[in-house]
Amino acid sequence: MEYLPIFLDVRDHLVLVDGGGTAAARRAERALSAGARVLVLDPAPGDELQRLTAEAPSGLSFEARLPGRDDVVGARVVYGASDDAAREARLLGWARDCKVLCDISDATDRCDFITPSIVDRSPVVVAISTGGAAPVVARTLRARIETMLSPAYGQLTAFVSRFRDRIAAGIGDARTRRHFWDRMIDGPVGDLYLSGNEAGAIARFEADLACTRAGKEAPMGEVYLVGAGPGDPDLLTFRALRLMQRADVVLYDRLVDPEMLSLVRRDAERIYVGKLPKEHTMEQGDISALLVKLALQGKRVLRLKGGDPFIFGRGGEEIEQLAARGIPFRVVPGITAAAGCAAYAGIPLTHRDHAQSCLFVTAHGRDGVLELDWEVLIRPAQTVAVYMGLQNLPALVEGFARRGISMQADVALVENGTRADQRVLTGTLGDIVDQARAAGFKSPTMIIIGSVVQLRARLAPGNAAKDIPHSLSISATQD
Ligand SMILES: C[S@@+](CC[C@H](N)C(=O)[O-])C[C@H]1O[C@@H](n2cnc3c(N)ncnc32)[C@H](O)[C@@H]1O
Repeated sequence: MEYLPIFLDVRDHLVLVDGGGTAAARRAERALSAGARVLVLDPAPGDELQRLTAEAPSGLSFEARLPGRDDVVGARVVYGASDDAAREARLLGWARDCKVLCDISDATDRCDFITPSIVDRSPVVVAISTGGAAPVVARTLRARIETMLSPAYGQLTAFVSRFRDRIAAGIGDARTRRHFWDRMIDGPVGDLYLSGNEAGAIARFEADLACTRAGKEAPMGEVYLVGAGPGDPDLLTFRALRLMQRADVVLYDRLVDPEMLSLVRRDAERIYVGKLPKEHTMEQGDISALLVKLALQGKRVLRLKGGDPFIFGRGGEEIEQLAARGIPFRVVPGITAAAGCAAYAGIPLTHRDHAQSCLFVTAHGRDGVLELDWEVLIRPAQTVAVYMGLQNLPALVEGFARRGISMQADVALVENGTRADQRVLTGTLGDIVDQARAAGFKSPTMIIIGSVVQLRARLAPGNAAKDIPHSLSISATQD
């Protein structure tokens, strides 16, 4: 390690910033947020600095001049951010004379310290430095850490610190105390607090503390019902990712991509509960019962579901049993297949000139008999997105035909939407069944019916190929 990492107390101390550009403004802001008195000097300040001084935050003063030796005297820290070599050399000389810590922007060899990249969740602050070797690496790491730490982490820290004395007094053994803290921050108490349920978090804390003091383990685990989106791992939410990295055990579906599973905590137990049409690995009731059983064993259970758990995902049934047993759970929405497939296929689900509404329906019926509200389905100026409809595509087409819908109506099929092997087929109600058969389309496939499908010719795939890494999948389309 080339540098000693420390966090310096600058509250009510003078921090001198020499410079008028963006770097100077950033350093002034950071010093102000740590409670310093900040003096910025520059004869010709830039826009950002002018904006900052116009806001006149408490603790900031600005003078339109060059610094002198006297400005350095008494400062705790001096920043050189003028981008002027001679001016910076002078500043550094005075700082060395006066034994004041000095940092010159972008010149590690002339610095007493390095200004790290930070993730600010005050009072938690994560500082990242590469010792000046590759600041871009520090910035990339910072972006990753930003996604891992909920914005409310700082408030969580302040919240749990309220219980410090009670935990210290109530749990004598240091190891047990440490485990208790781990469980509290990374477990149900923290989760409840982060989801906005402070009263629930306090109640859970009291229950856990009473259990631990009585020599028992925490009463129960919790369940995360997480929507994994249609396939592309890039479509996961930050919260989904955080909970995936926290789970002890994961129950996952057939529709969850293997690449997605690699993002779950490495040592988490994996249980496949996937379903194929007509082939159920585990019945729904058994899945719900397993969730309850694992949570009662004190585990953090991740129920990872394709798309969104509350859209044709039976998520409601799974949490019903949890709710009935008082088992804590959290539901994390995911991008539903209709939205993902439409976006990656270049088909807007609504459009001013084509469709003012979009209907999500399932065509999962027994023996080709569809129970659909046809009156609603055939309304004009609307898009119909059909889940689980491939098997019953002929019955679906027949249903539209019987209600007088033109066989020239536009239809798109999106197989494995958003994944590397996505395929898209466009046609009409009249020819889509034969086309799908000829192309060997399989589940999972999303069916999109409506004139918005015509927009694909203009909106896909060329534009998508420019910025979506799945350009390959889109260019593998069939039409
Ligand atoms: C049981 S439903 C689950 C829906 C899921 N909860 C959601 O919100 O997307 C399964 C159906 O969703 C559609 N589906 C899910 N993922 C898909 C994908 N990647 N590409 C195309 N269709 C998909 C298919 O119609 C599939 O039969």
